[in-house]
Parts: sequence; structure tokens; C-alpha cells
Amino acid sequence: MNEPALAARTLVVLLGDWRGSGTTYRNLADRIRLLILDGRIPSGTRLPAERELAERLGLSRATISSAYRDLRERAVLHSVRGSGSVARINPASLAREPGGRPVLLDLARASLPAAPQLPEAALAAAEALPRYLDADSDPVGLPELRAAIAARYSAQGLPTRPDQIMVTLGAQHAIGLVTRLFLARGDRALIEHPSYPYAHDTMRALGARVVAVPVTAETGWDADELIDTVERTSPALAYLMPDFHNPTGASMPRDLRERLCRVAAKQGTVLLIDETTADLDIDRPGPMRPFAVDNRSGAEIITVGTVGKTLWAGIRLGWIRAEAATITRLVASRTRSDLGTSILEQLTVLEAFKAMPQILELRQRQLRATRDVTVSYLSSRVPEWQIPHVHGGLALWVNLGTPVSSRLTLTARQHGLLLSAGPRFGADGAFERFLRIPITGPSEVTETALAALVDSWEELRAAPDLELPPPGRY
Ligand SMILES: Cc1ncc(COP(=O)(O)O)c(C=O)c1O
Repeated sequence: MNEPALAARTLVVLLGDWRGSGTTYRNLADRIRLLILDGRIPSGTRLPAERELAERLGLSRATISSAYRDLRERAVLHSVRGSGSVARINPASLAREPGGRPVLLDLARASLPAAPQLPEAALAAAEALPRYLDADSDPVGLPELRAAIAARYSAQGLPTRPDQIMVTLGAQHAIGLVTRLFLARGDRALIEHPSYPYAHDTMRALGARVVAVPVTAETGWDADELIDTVERTSPALAYLMPDFHNPTGASMPRDLRERLCRVAAKQGTVLLIDETTADLDIDRPGPMRPFAVDNRSGAEIITVGTVGKTLWAGIRLGWIRAEAATITRLVASRTRSDLGTSILEQLTVLEAFKAMPQILELRQRQLRATRDVTVSYLSSRVPEWQIPHVHGGLALWVNLGTPVSSRLTLTARQHGLLLSAGPRFGADGAFERFLRIPITGPSEVTETALAALVDSWEELRAAPDLELPPPGRY
């Protein structure tokens, strides 16, 4: 029984408001299935014992048994005598929903297709490789690539030396390295709410006490609340996405950046700034301005970046920008988990950097086309939803007007459409009113997926237990 166990009380919080019009066991199974499919219950987690969950939910043990049986039949749960019931997705089961159509459309992930310049960059990297064959594994990054990343920051108004850069296996790896160095069990960590879920998971796994501050698509950060929270709680680390925040698309105004740096310097809070989405500009007023430019107070700022959204998510390459002494500490701690980034991939990125202006222009065109199609389609077909206007980023954080995001996600699977329900981006079951709709896919494919989304919404509206106002009347 080595699997991590999920306490019954935690599962009850994750379940949120799960009851609906169907049979109780089926509603419960549906909601647990969604939690497993979207990763809120990680694969390999042991679910609570039937009796314990029955007590917590005030249901009979037979109902829980039926729900678990249903989950086993639908290939997301595995039961072994003596080990209990463990969440485990059978990949073959994902291709087709029971009684439904094959799953074809994906509005769950927000990643762009590989840049067309990539194969040429990879070929040039392969040609350059013989010059590097004497090199050993590389925990800090090739000098040429560190210099190129530093030069990009300098050109954006943030003077940076190569010894302030460390190359990583993507931004998520960078977040893991920084949080492991700066957060100990019981430390406070500030995150935005909603936020990028894997960063949140990383902090929770380290045993940090998470303090959440709200961000909305319409008004962004509540400036006073953010500053007060840092002042009051003095978190060891604050994880923020100031440019095209994922999932809301909000960008932080300059005066708030300055205030935040000031309060962080005063309270000794390290700011972990995730600029993964910062290059995804559609019509941002003004050029990209790295967050650390506005640090006039001596706050410790650690910035992470990646080529995952510009070049390709399949190239596992990102970086950390920090003070040189912090980079030295990060490099020293890295060898506990990995020994460095592939040299061939570093050379590929170095080559691809030469075409970065064209790649960013292409991304801008792709994102603009899909954003515009999505906004105009949804505004005309589902006027009751609140659709934000974003200037860039990965997605639209749509307010459904009513807390049914998980139910909509389950209904959509019957229409061959994958969605990420709002609570995936929050803690403790929050954001049932919201759905993240990516703008990263090709606009034609997105239009087909949106048609399936609208069909799913109409089916859900017809559910007898849902009392939604008529279309267009929120
Ligand atoms: C905000 C944010 N940070 C980090 C990452 C992870 O990036 P990478 O693929 O470089 O690990 C993502 C990926 O979606 C993201 O959205």
C-alpha cells in the first residue's frame, strides 16, 4: 500500500456540489471520474475506503460501492484486494466514451502547434553537434544559449549577464527547482487564484501553506488586497504571472508591479515570476516589459521563461533568470533530480532564436484569428456567458453565469469534446462558474470544437434539475 492516499474529507472538498438529476451513485462516479481525468486526483492515488466516504457524505456504503464499481467499469479505477481502490486511467478507454462518440476535439489543453521553423533549426543543430561531442552533461546550460537568453532580456530593457541565466527542462522544471530551494514544509506561499495548476500542485506537494489572492479576467488583481496579503502574511515565496495570466489573460499594471516589489523587499518575500505566457501578445498596448524592470526596491525576483508556448511544448527547454549567486545555488541543488538539459535541444533553441521575430509574428496571427473567432462565435451563440476581452495569452476565462463547469465538462465528453473544468485552476472546488477556453488551436478546428461546446451547453440547459434563466437573460 505505497500509493499516496486521498483523505475522505479532501475528496469531499474536491467533489464540490456534485449532486444532479440522475442516480446518486452515477452522479458521484461522474464527478470522481472528472477529477481523475483532469488530474485533480493524480493517477496512482488511493481513494478513501468505502465506509469512510459513505460516512462523510451521509450515504449508504452500497451507494459508494456502486460508484466505485462504475469507475472500475469505466477504466479509471483499479481495485486490488488488500490495497483498496487506486485511481488509474486505462489509456485505451479514453479514445471512446461509453455510449458516446470517439473523443476528437480538445479544448482542454492550451498549447500551440510546433513552429514551422523548428525542423530547420533542428537540422542546423545536428550539423553543429560534432563541435560539442567532448562536452559532459550540462546542469547550467551552454554558454552560447545563456548569452542569447541574457541578450533577449537586455534588449527588452532588463540588463542581464549570462551568469544570471540557467537553462532548464522547461518552465515547470524551473518552478520545481525554485520552489524546492525557497520553500520548506509549513512556509507560506502566495499564489494567484485561479492559477496554473501544476505550480500550485508543486507547492502543495512541498507542504507549503498556500495563501491565495484573487485575479479576474475583467479587473485583474485587486491591488490593495494583493499588497495587504503580502504585508500581513510575509510569504516566503509569491508565484505570479503578471503578463497574460493563465487562465484569465489579465496583465498587471505598472504601478502595481512597483508596489509589489516594494512590499516584497520589505517583507523578505521572493517573487517567482512566471513569464511563460508573456510573449503571447496579440494587441498588447506597448512592447513586452519584463517584470523585473520595475524592481526599484531591491526585491529578490526570480523569473522563469520557456520556449514551450512559442516554439513547441515538445522541446523541453526553459530557463531561470536570477542573481548569479542564486543561480549557483539552484545549479548545486539541481543534481538531486536531473543532470542537465540535452545539448542537442539547446542547440536547436539557439538556432530557433534567430527566427524568433518571425515565430512571434506567426503566433500573434494564430492567436488573434482564434481569439476573434471564439469571441464572435460564443457572443452570438451563448450571449448569457460573459466573455472577456484579452490582449494575448493562452485562453479566455469565460464566466458561465452559473456553477456548472464540471457538469458541462462531462456532458461535452459525450459530444466528443475534452474540456478543463474551472475548478482545475482553483483550490478546493472553486471556479465552478468558469471555463477556460484555449485560443491556441487553429481557428477552423476551434470553430468545430465550439459548435460541440454549444451543443453540450444546450443539452445541459435541458436537464430537469437545472434552473437556468432563458438564453441571453443573465
Ligand atoms: C503559466 C505556465 N507556466 C509554466 C508552464 C509549463 O511550461 P513548460 O512546458 O515550459 O514546462 C505552463 C504550461 O502550460 C504554463 O501555462
